[in-house]
Amino acid sequence: MEPTVAAKAEKVKVTFLPRETTTRVPAGTTLFHAAAWTGQPIESTCGGRGTCGKCRVQIVEGAAPVTPADLQHLGQEDIDCGWRLSCQTEVRFEMVVQVPRLLTTPKTAMFGVGRQVLLDPNVHKVHLRLAEPTLHDQRSDYQRIKDALREEGFAMTASLPVLRTLPKTLREAEFDVTVVLCGDSLIAVEAGDTTNECYGVAFDVGTTTLVGTLMDLNNGEARAVGSTLNAQAIHGGDVLSRISYTMGKKEGLEELQHLATFTLNGIIERLVGESGVPTSRVYEITVAGNLTMMHLLLGIDPEPISVTPFASAAAHGLDLRACDLGIAIHPEGRVYLFPAIGAYVGGDIVAGLLATAVPRGNRLRLFVDVGTNGEITLGHEQRSVATAAPAGPAFEGAEISCGMRATTGAIEGVQITDDAVGLQTIDDAPPVGLCGSGLVDVVAQLYKRGLMDATGRMRSAEEIAHAVPASLAARLITVDGVRAFVLATAQETGGRPVVFTQKDVRQLQFAKGSIASGIKVLMKVMGVGPADLHEVLLAGAFGSYIHPDAARIIGLVPAVPLDRIRAVGNAAGEGAKIALLSYREREAAEAMPSRVEYIELSGREDFNDIFMGVLGFPPLDSLP
Ligand code: FES
Repeated sequence: MEPTVAAKAEKVKVTFLPRETTTRVPAGTTLFHAAAWTGQPIESTCGGRGTCGKCRVQIVEGAAPVTPADLQHLGQEDIDCGWRLSCQTEVRFEMVVQVPRLLTTPKTAMFGVGRQVLLDPNVHKVHLRLAEPTLHDQRSDYQRIKDALREEGFAMTASLPVLRTLPKTLREAEFDVTVVLCGDSLIAVEAGDTTNECYGVAFDVGTTTLVGTLMDLNNGEARAVGSTLNAQAIHGGDVLSRISYTMGKKEGLEELQHLATFTLNGIIERLVGESGVPTSRVYEITVAGNLTMMHLLLGIDPEPISVTPFASAAAHGLDLRACDLGIAIHPEGRVYLFPAIGAYVGGDIVAGLLATAVPRGNRLRLFVDVGTNGEITLGHEQRSVATAAPAGPAFEGAEISCGMRATTGAIEGVQITDDAVGLQTIDDAPPVGLCGSGLVDVVAQLYKRGLMDATGRMRSAEEIAHAVPASLAARLITVDGVRAFVLATAQETGGRPVVFTQKDVRQLQFAKGSIASGIKVLMKVMGVGPADLHEVLLAGAFGSYIHPDAARIIGLVPAVPLDRIRAVGNAAGEGAKIALLSYREREAAEAMPSRVEYIELSGREDFNDIFMGVLGFPPLDSLP
């Protein structure tokens, strides 16, 4: 059969043997990258730069022209038998490729949602015993290192600050050194063998909280974890108020940029202090955050993100010098920022998708990060779509009469039995108010117990007097003409009673209606229903604490069997760790924006109807 050439935007099928993993990649993608996307390991030390000659594969079906790198690294006989360097071979036709077994058993670690990740960081340390210069060998220091690295299969370039260090370091160390490569950039030359000291920090940069994990890049172990509130919070709790701050004050952007690096550096300082790892041995950080946070960290004006058509200054993945951002790790260390899929589906979501592998799996899964913005992705290997649904601050406890952040005394769980109300509070402290998960719980419970109808209308004590015990009915009161439910009396709190009002129900309905509409639109685009969903993953600081059953009862997530709803914790932070420990996985993150279609909700003609249709709660007997 004649192979057909794929048009530029067309996806081409590649099958890797012997595992028989299949993927479709945009024409022009290298086999090496296609393999990284499927998680198929291929031997390499140069990271796909065509210099190590280790990534050979055999083309079983399909055609691949011979490249200069093939001629350099492979014998003619092998080339005639279809062997090629996978990092140089572009996929143009449908292909079947045989991948040799790895020569060594690679180190792996478990991260994200049960993901086995190959430990293959972007940072490499190589111990070199270099020949000292002689009158017969007058190669420069730079060339001496470059030649030695080539023999080890690494390519190299060096910047001026590193070149400046070479004469002294090499001679003082008698040419026994360890070189540090970040990708193919030489970032340091250290005396002696320091290969066992190689660290990086993975960051989840949230609008509210930042979490950093110091990782040992040799074995993938976390050495220390630290988190802190985002110092930018003094200028607004959400992304829009931070953007407004930059618009309203001349030095606003500079100030927020400074606060971003200040917060990151504070965590780094704590991590190295706790672990005893010197800052000079921390060579790279990875940063997963929403696009506004990334713009602020970079000192780029975020204003265009906030106004239609929401076109940002930069949404691609970035590899930068830490010192250019004022990040205090090794002076020549690097910072990797995840790419974004859309203005409101940022690098934090790309990192979450890396951790859960939603767009790379073969089963249909729904990923929902619930917060002021609900970021949603639905898909599998064949097709994935994503959107952002503005939910407002209700899930963070704001604009709820007794709402509060998830701190000590916040009610995080509610159980209404026939005649009692059971409250679960953070730190088991007396109840102070309601945080997001408690909010979802209380609405689900009121609805389940018949204290509220499917439209969200709270019933009065008289209406249900015949159906529930008097002690429960007595909790239904009226405050300033508005119906309310007493969650905790003044006696129980030792202070102000915690009361949940009809207005609060409406706030929650709008927030959940927005996210549920986003989910519904994506399901419509994909042409699937709840029964097709293999799993629903709830991510993020808030999503992970919602009780899956409550989320289902209020219709926040589709009506799927309970065992298909799973909280996946801080998926963005896990994704940041994965990208730090495996450059191949980082390649997969880089491919996300081209693999996941962004669906814009505003301006969709069907949105209002869908939104109105999901404001209420699904019939209780409809839940599987
Ligand atoms: S990965 Fe292809 S030559 Fe190194």
